[in-house]
Amino acid sequence: SRTIVRNANVCYGFESTKCGEAVLIPVASRTIVRNANVCHGFESTKCGGAVLISCSFYGKISLSITKNVRCAQNGEKMRTYLVTGGAGFIGSNYIHYMFKKYDNEIRIINVDALTYAGNLENLKDVEKRENYTFVKANICDKDAISKIFAENDIDRVVHFAAESHVDRSIRNPEIFVQTNVLGTAVMLNCAKAAWELPDGSFKEGKKFLHVSTDEVYGSLPDDDNAFFYETTPYDPHSPYSASKASSDMLVKAYMDTYHFPANITNCSNNYGPFQFPEKLIPLIINNALHGKKLPVYGDGKNVRDWLYVEDHAKAIDMVQEQGRLFETYNVGGHNEKQNIEIIHIIIETLQEMLPDSDPRKAHINNDLITYVEDRKGHDRRYAIAPDKIKAEIGWYPETMFKEGIRKTIAWYFEHEDWMNNVTSGDYQKYYNEMYEEK
Ligand code: NAD
Ligand code: TYD
Repeated sequence: SRTIVRNANVCYGFESTKCGEAVLIPVASRTIVRNANVCHGFESTKCGGAVLISCSFYGKISLSITKNVRCAQNGEKMRTYLVTGGAGFIGSNYIHYMFKKYDNEIRIINVDALTYAGNLENLKDVEKRENYTFVKANICDKDAISKIFAENDIDRVVHFAAESHVDRSIRNPEIFVQTNVLGTAVMLNCAKAAWELPDGSFKEGKKFLHVSTDEVYGSLPDDDNAFFYETTPYDPHSPYSASKASSDMLVKAYMDTYHFPANITNCSNNYGPFQFPEKLIPLIINNALHGKKLPVYGDGKNVRDWLYVEDHAKAIDMVQEQGRLFETYNVGGHNEKQNIEIIHIIIETLQEMLPDSDPRKAHINNDLITYVEDRKGHDRRYAIAPDKIKAEIGWYPETMFKEGIRKTIAWYFEHEDWMNNVTSGDYQKYYNEMYEEK
């Protein structure tokens, strides 16, 4: 519903004709943006007001305010999301989910530093949307983040950006503290500065959702009746989970101290499209398809609770819209499996899905399974009881593992180029250090 003005050298502003429509008109009283080469459109703030977003002057983004222009369809402001880490696995799935659900009713600004895990290919389908903007910035960069808040009236923050891989955290913990702890502090501070009113309360309707992990709760024994609840004490073991626990604590501190409007979600292991092949499921799919050995850490009996990523995206949205502020919600698949079971399921599913004519089919079998040295400090079992989110919000895991793993494998079949791109270059070095040179 936005209008794009390409290659204009003067933009005069918009005037609404009727609610939901706008025309570009040359009226001097409106804000004039001179020498812009691209104007990406308008967002209404309230009926009768609008903010011109992203007018770029040959690469430099600037913001201008126009008045008396377009009304949103329902007379309400279009909600603006600031998503951090949206070029990663869960963040990109969340952005797809949100546009599928809300289409042009929302606007998303995605801020991502594009580390090895960030990939703009994941967002090819949405990059041309007028209600989507990508900003390459590090969440530790206070100036860059406060600039985004200054230039945009952000309503929701959904904070995914993090270093997310346990094995990498064991090898190089410092970057985990930097990004996960310091970066979260910067995000909290900038949101607080933008949203806080002079009396210490916060602007109406603003919400921050911190995306965290079940790993903060530590490790459960091999007992099917033991679960992580929201009340389970934190007991992180890896540098990754310790850094996520620290970031959760910062969010809790902001909620307790300032009444900062936030929620935390602690989710179990995700799987699905766009997952980087350092994590178990895509690594096993990719190795199996290439006839490479399938590395199992330790005895292969460590248990993880696997959730299809789209169900996680849905949970995040539901918590932000229906959850009680200041609350933590555990999100899980009720789908606990030993790692070795996961590997067997992937082998079987690949066998079922590949046609007999596919030459890869012959070499995919249990002989590829290779037990390797265990991960240091390897947590034994994670299991979430998603009782609270189900009771309070009505969320539950919709995708059964059998269906989810087929969808995931089908996605990797259809996106061989994606996998080839992400496994070239630096990935080979990582893989050799992790698996070949041990
Ligand atoms: P990911 O590693 O795939 O993506 C992380 C994204 O953050 C990447 O796009 C990366 O470029 C970006 N990023 C990293 N450092 C940054 C920085 N300093 N500034 C800006 N951007 C930066 O991770 P993921 O698996 O999508 O996980 C997303 C979030 O969900 C993380 O906070 C993670 O702790 C949490 N989580 C993940 C899982 C899981 O199974 N993957 C489960 C529960 C919670
Ligand atoms: P991972 O996908 O790294 O997630 P997390 O450590 O955050 O749970 O690993 C999932 C499980 O699979 C974990 O118990 C470690 C194990 N694993 C292997 O056995 N082999 C592998 O090559 C990898 C990457 C993981």
